[in-house]
Amino acid sequence: MHPRSSLPAFLFLPLLLSCTASSALLTPTPTPTPSFLSHYASFSRYLVETGLANSLVGLTNLTVLAVDDAVIPRLSGESRDVIRRVLSMHLVAGYYDLHKLRQLPNGTATLSTLFQEKGNPQGSIEVVILRDGGVAFGSNRDVKLLNSFASHPHGISLLQISDLIMEPRTQGDGNCLTLCPSARSISKKSEALPIDTIFKLPSPLPTWPAGGGFAGGTIDFGGLLVYQTSSFSKVWAVYEGGPDNRGATFLEPSALPEGYFMFGSYAQPNNRPLSGWLLVGKDQTNDISNGTLKKPVDYSLIWSSDSSKIKQDRSGYIWSPIPPDGYKAVGHVITTSPEKPSLDKVRCVRSDLTDQCEIETLIWGSSGNKFSVYSSRPFNREVGALAVSAGTFIAQNGQPSSSPLSCLRNAKYNISAMPNRSQIEALIEAYSPIVYFHPDEEFLPSSVDWFFTNGSLLYTKGQESKPVPIEATGSNLPQGGSNDGAYWLDLPLDGAAKDRVKKGFLQSAQAYMHVKPMLGATFTDIAIWLFYPFNGAARAKVKFINLSLGKIGEHVGDWEHVTLRISNFNGQLRNVYFSQHGAGIWMGTSDLEFQNANKFVVYASLHGHAAFFKPGTFLQGNDGVGMRNDVKKSSIFLDTGANYSIIAAEYLGPSAIPVPPWLNYCREWGPRVDYDAAEDMQKAVKALPGKLKTALANALSSLPPEVLEQEGPTGPKMKPSWNGDEA
Ligand SMILES: *[C@@H]1O[C@H](CO)[C@@H](O)[C@H](O)[C@H]1NC(C)=O
Ligand SMILES: *[C@@H]1O[C@H](CO)[C@@H](O)[C@H](O)[C@H]1NC(C)=O
Ligand SMILES: *[C@@H]1O[C@H](CO)[C@@H](O)[C@H](O)[C@H]1NC(C)=O
Ligand SMILES: *[C@@H]1O[C@H](CO)[C@@H](O)[C@H](O)[C@H]1NC(C)=O
Ligand SMILES: *[C@@H]1O[C@H](CO)[C@@H](O)[C@H](O)[C@H]1NC(C)=O
Ligand SMILES: *[C@@H]1O[C@H](CO)[C@@H](O)[C@H](O)[C@H]1NC(C)=O
Ligand SMILES: *[C@@H]1O[C@H](CO)[C@@H](O)[C@H](O)[C@H]1NC(C)=O
Ligand SMILES: *[C@@H]1O[C@H](CO)[C@@H](O)[C@H](O)[C@H]1NC(C)=O
Repeated sequence: MHPRSSLPAFLFLPLLLSCTASSALLTPTPTPTPSFLSHYASFSRYLVETGLANSLVGLTNLTVLAVDDAVIPRLSGESRDVIRRVLSMHLVAGYYDLHKLRQLPNGTATLSTLFQEKGNPQGSIEVVILRDGGVAFGSNRDVKLLNSFASHPHGISLLQISDLIMEPRTQGDGNCLTLCPSARSISKKSEALPIDTIFKLPSPLPTWPAGGGFAGGTIDFGGLLVYQTSSFSKVWAVYEGGPDNRGATFLEPSALPEGYFMFGSYAQPNNRPLSGWLLVGKDQTNDISNGTLKKPVDYSLIWSSDSSKIKQDRSGYIWSPIPPDGYKAVGHVITTSPEKPSLDKVRCVRSDLTDQCEIETLIWGSSGNKFSVYSSRPFNREVGALAVSAGTFIAQNGQPSSSPLSCLRNAKYNISAMPNRSQIEALIEAYSPIVYFHPDEEFLPSSVDWFFTNGSLLYTKGQESKPVPIEATGSNLPQGGSNDGAYWLDLPLDGAAKDRVKKGFLQSAQAYMHVKPMLGATFTDIAIWLFYPFNGAARAKVKFINLSLGKIGEHVGDWEHVTLRISNFNGQLRNVYFSQHGAGIWMGTSDLEFQNANKFVVYASLHGHAAFFKPGTFLQGNDGVGMRNDVKKSSIFLDTGANYSIIAAEYLGPSAIPVPPWLNYCREWGPRVDYDAAEDMQKAVKALPGKLKTALANALSSLPPEVLEQEGPTGPKMKPSWNGDEA
């Protein structure tokens, strides 16, 4: 293959060590570490081996690009200035030559980088056009574009920039420790925190197929152009309290594109890698009296850490913007000074572009203090709703505020940035998870048509003796109506066929995808449904004792799902919902186990098929007593991207996606069972000694009804998440 054509759509080569402009000032002459330099060497080798270096030689001082291992030890003792000179050539994707960079339509773009931290050869970096027309790279606006030496259309180009590009950076391999004394040396803590690492997906995002507003970088909410940024500078951090008692960090966007303003600061617990985003906006109305954005008229101080004896860098101050009439505040501002922030610091939003907000999860709370910080989300989150999460946090000092913050509202066209069919397929190809089953799993998934055509039966109430076989597509199932008990499905009557169908048939299994516009369609949710002909019995764990729960939990017909939440600004996977027995949990991408580029792993629990993001035994209950969910990697797995079917994407229009008839079957996929769950439960409880009896009885009575349900479940379309947010 021609070397150039074998390359992904990348580009640049810089070094990604840490810190923001302010911390760089504290750094006299930091020197890249050996680990950084060895990455640089492998990058150079890469250029040579692929022949890319050859194609560039002669254009400029390309000895730099062909630098070999012998040069590295020499460099490692050099000053920052020398290294800066040596490493100041950077490769950028060809379509971002000087001209294109200066003409970026939206003033910003995310470029993939070839040279990366952690030995990972690819990643991304933001480039921004500054107000003065300069082009800045990464979070430090002082890193400017100087010159462009070469550019090959659709190949690569060679740019010169003014300094090392530095990104906030990891503990691990020491880069940051040398380059960036920054916060760490002045803080009272000594150990590195997860938030010191910037989370990145293992592979760069693919180039999404063109079409419509999806992954266009910005979304127009109606005179308010919105952009999603993930480049932050740290403002204030506290090192205790909050999740895992590791404190939280407060940040703000580090380089806003021309004309954009922040709505408020960003905050995140320290117990996870920096992985968030924040929306920023630009008023496009040119209307001075009634534009979409206005400066606040003043600020009120919500809280300060001034008098707290908590571990912190210095004191933090959290402010609420006071909006002018007809406008609302969408975020707080954080400062490290008791003086009010400048009125130019944030913008308030015209009321018709705001919506009701609520608190989501705790980011930080100081003990002995009524002050807490939460992430925010819109109150209205049904499919197609217009309310948008701005990524800002909500601070509460005692009572919830009487003038609460608002979320944004996409008043223009709520699905303008949704992916079309080819883009959906590209998203599935990029992110579809691999589901691992427990090595002891007896009840595997199958396709719906396999279940139907292998002897399953449709029963009609009142005619129980005359069940009928089901057509492959479910075309003879009753359509519509409600779950009124008039019909149900069951396994074949014949014992051998019954046992065979119960076990499922992995080779036939298909993943069924439902694509939904969420949060004012700033996000695409792809719910991935799997069907299992049978859900095996639950088991309890009482301290170290395994306990059979008889037939509790057994049912015919089991629908399970995980849901991907993908940003419509850039196609980045942001969160994944793991459904677990009628409830479930949202995880951030930094919590996922990746396998094969940006595809991640889902573990299906033994018998119950609940979805988990890591292996282990998860108890539903308290204090070592409850129902156990065992998940473990085995050689049995399903690649959900290998054979899938998009069963619904209503926003694409009524006839865009052919709806399989079984989807509109609204009754149960299994019969009501006739065993006595209470009796099984009592048996299990009775078998235990003394105190454990009560513990198990309590644990069982608090299990979600879904587990104890004695009826077959209904299909995906009947679940609350079909038209709404996940639980
Ligand atoms: C190439 O290197 C020479 C000698 O170090 C220097 O004078 C010249 O400015 C360099 N060219 C570029 C384009 O940086
Ligand atoms: C998606 O949109 C692009 C651009 O409008 C178009 O070329 C492509 O055919 C569309 N794909 C589908 C499957 O609709
Ligand atoms: C810039 O924003 C417009 C929407 O206003 C969008 O159509 C376009 O694709 C964006 N371009 C880039 C390169 O992000
Ligand atoms: C400002 O614009 C909004 C949206 O178009 C409109 O609802 C509101 O009435 C306007 N307010 C004034 C004072 O003109
Ligand atoms: C099971 O279903 C598959 C796929 O529909 C079909 O090819 C096969 O013949 C069926 N097997 C039996 C025993 O009915
Ligand atoms: C996908 O699964 C369906 C249902 O089991 C089956 O009919 C089809 O042949 C499979 N397609 C591929 C490419 O394996
Ligand atoms: C309980 O069950 C788990 C999962 O099957 C098994 O690994 C473990 O050894 C069992 N423990 C006892 C004490 O039987
Ligand atoms: C948002 O888009 C959906 C299409 O999925 C549409 O049905 C719905 O009416 C829109 N919502 C509003 C409030 O316009």
